[in-house]
Amino acid sequence: MTAMLITDIGELTTNVGVPGDPCGTMTDAAVLVEGARIAWVGTAAEARRFLHPSASDAPEIGGAPLEVVDAGGRAVVPGFVDSHTHLVFGGDRADEFAARMSGTPYAAGGIRRTVAATRAASDDELRRRLAGFVAELHAQGTTTFEIKTGYGLTVHDEARLARLASEVTSEVTFLGAHVVPAEYAEARDEYVELVCGAMLERCAPHSRWIDVFCERGAFTPDESRRVLAAGIAHGLLPRVHGNQLGPGDGVQIAVALGAASVDHCTYLDEADVAALAGSDTVATLLPGVEFSTRQPYPDARRLIDAGVTVALASDCNPGSSFTSSMPLMIALAVREMRMTPAEAVWAATAGGARALRRDDVGAIAPRMRADLVLLDAPTRVHLAYRPGVPLVDAVWKDGVRL
Ligand code: NIG
Ligand code: FE
Repeated sequence: MTAMLITDIGELTTNVGVPGDPCGTMTDAAVLVEGARIAWVGTAAEARRFLHPSASDAPEIGGAPLEVVDAGGRAVVPGFVDSHTHLVFGGDRADEFAARMSGTPYAAGGIRRTVAATRAASDDELRRRLAGFVAELHAQGTTTFEIKTGYGLTVHDEARLARLASEVTSEVTFLGAHVVPAEYAEARDEYVELVCGAMLERCAPHSRWIDVFCERGAFTPDESRRVLAAGIAHGLLPRVHGNQLGPGDGVQIAVALGAASVDHCTYLDEADVAALAGSDTVATLLPGVEFSTRQPYPDARRLIDAGVTVALASDCNPGSSFTSSMPLMIALAVREMRMTPAEAVWAATAGGARALRRDDVGAIAPRMRADLVLLDAPTRVHLAYRPGVPLVDAVWKDGVRL
């Protein structure tokens, strides 16, 4: 088994929360990694004993030579957990973005253009593109990511996207209910039946999650309930796209079903906030969408102050948010949504882990996966303070440097 000690960490964000500091911040810290897992976390002074293993209290390092990484006083944070992406697709919608920047509003219907391009793309084209996105995510410090289907919308194409996504992540979400495809425009009920029947049947073996875009222009509350119930009956766990473009029932549906997360949460009323606060459902905020569509940002402060668990994710997709950068999400959350830097970093790591119901990622503590990001900065605040600057210096996933 390999062993690695990262020491002289100026600021370590453990996310092992203490009252007043959910980030569980340590200074002058060190982390010992054995194989794929974190073995020990402590101070750099205490870590000296691993360098001189004759000391009586030295733990076993399995006989492996210890690789020592000197962080030089810089900050280490957990690998980012991006709990919401749509990374398997063909085509490009830069023209739509440009038109939007000149005043055309964003509408859910643009999804159909990507559907056409995705259906026309071969497995190998999609796989190549996906590999590029995965490299992009890793380079920016994301070590766990979810991927949704939703740009196929036929039994064959949705199953293809779910299978391709499952080649790069265990967090695959079946989103056959992304939008009603053009060929079913006059027969939406038949389409919902297809999603709940043959399509689900073929996608469930590759998926962990079931999702629905519950929104005017996409699926109604009743249709959304049907889709989620069918997914749950197939052993999938629910999550919901809701309250993105206007008020709606997405949040209430998600909470009633015990969904892991309801994503977007831009248009909420008091009852929505209260329902989230009294539940285990995470509110996942996707500020890349508001940035790229010039919509109002969700009210993160209202949610956090009400006691709602908030996650940040990129929603990387070719329509509403074509960025895979979690550091950008942190910067937007701080600068546009009045989250503190600590809240934003927590939401992009531990919050994402909660939104995916994962207890092995999103924190730096013994037995957690060794998913770590060394920043070229003295503190995590720099992620928001220096927007757009590539501060990710080194990334380890499962103890392996990427
Ligand atoms: O999360 N809301 C639905 N799906 C995406 C948009 C996808 C697209 O426009 O292609 C989203 O914003
Ligand atoms: Fe989305």
